[in-house]
Amino acid sequence: MDNFIYDIPTKVYFGENQLGHLGDELGRFGKRVLLVYGGGSIKKSGLYEQVVNEMKKSGLEIFELSGIAPNPRIDSVRQGVKLCKENKIDVLLAVGGGSTIDAAKFVAAGSCVDFDAWDFFSKSAPIKKTLPIVTILTLAATGSEMDDGGVISNPETREKIGLGAPPLRPKVSFLDPTLTYSVSRYQTACGAVDIMSHIMEVYFNTDESLYMLDCIAEGLLKTVIRYAPIALEKPDDYEARANLMWASSWALNGFLPGGRKHAMDWSCHPMEHELSAIYDITHGLGLAILTPRWMKYCLDETTLSRFVKFGTNVFGIDPESEPMEIAEKSIEMLSKFFFETLGLDDTFTKVGIKKEDFPLMEKRACGGDILVNGVKPLHQEDIEKIYEMCGEPFYPDFATP
Ligand code: NZQ
Ligand code: ZN
Repeated sequence: MDNFIYDIPTKVYFGENQLGHLGDELGRFGKRVLLVYGGGSIKKSGLYEQVVNEMKKSGLEIFELSGIAPNPRIDSVRQGVKLCKENKIDVLLAVGGGSTIDAAKFVAAGSCVDFDAWDFFSKSAPIKKTLPIVTILTLAATGSEMDDGGVISNPETREKIGLGAPPLRPKVSFLDPTLTYSVSRYQTACGAVDIMSHIMEVYFNTDESLYMLDCIAEGLLKTVIRYAPIALEKPDDYEARANLMWASSWALNGFLPGGRKHAMDWSCHPMEHELSAIYDITHGLGLAILTPRWMKYCLDETTLSRFVKFGTNVFGIDPESEPMEIAEKSIEMLSKFFFETLGLDDTFTKVGIKKEDFPLMEKRACGGDILVNGVKPLHQEDIEKIYEMCGEPFYPDFATP
């Protein structure tokens, strides 16, 4: 186990009826608040009104940046930076899912520099400082409410790039599971896959020295497998929504990697971001299609023990079975969970992803000529093979919708 620094400075208000603290928390950072939100779900649910009332009660001055799209665009970030600079904003309040929170993060960073915010992505300009960010999460998926990263798309260059820096971590996050009751079946399913993927990207690692963190990762995966189907059946099941929400935050708040080597060298995320960059598909859907293929591609004698651990501890497969049988069964059970239980599409063909874009996506996924270093290093030609596996049904006998 390597040395590591553990620092999660996000204050969390978890549960119902916590918004009474919102005004005081925002007020710690100043009076002028930029309220950032998406395409209108918060107006439909009544949350917008509630949030504005709380802020008004505390005498805060409200400015707005609305219409943040899923797979948020750099143009929204630029618009937000302009608003912050013109109105001398003190603090940002992001109300929504990962897209809204991510956009707010880069507005907060862009407001502290005198160059274009896309330079953070295209020129690796360092993020040394941001305006303070407060969030109210409405969708359990990305972990953006407690992590130090974000992902922004640039439709002009057909790029979607993620990056992280400590100042991007929210100062305060309100996590009320009841706010996720209105999340659609589809977004709930995609969110569940995203949470699981954040855990699996770290868990599938050849470093066996962090037994304690492996157990927690397995527990978090089991939590999603247990509660996502309940949330699909009964969207207002508090226990299910609460477990998913807290699992979403812990999957990606900096705790799971510990001192594991290469823990943040991920595989499915770089491959997926290229899909949503070009096709604007939902991030969790892309991950669902890619992950079982990536697993199958990486399964060999060098990675077998991890898959055996995954199959026995997460899916309860009989540990007395042959190791390779356990590994293959675990991939099959995960696929069934994604495509049958959660009901997500299982091929690129179904979501309209075309072969002609593979070369660009492969090249960008591995950062040009550099390979992706996950549980098994992937070069561009490996990514090509994984993308090709996504064209046809993974298990032709699965009853997909
Ligand atoms: O825009 P509104 O109207 O709010 O509707 C949204 C959107 O259409 C809707 N929604 C959110 N909360 C709702 C709701 N609808 C009804 N009731 C509610 N309570 O759901 C749709 C999707 O929202 P979005 O924010 O896009 O989803 P998600 O949270 O999955 O975020 C996805 C984005 O985050 C990035 C993804 O790549 C993608 O761009 N990621 C961010 C990460 C991070 N910050 O660390 C890590 C992830 O791996 C991921 O890459
Ligand atoms: Zn993700």
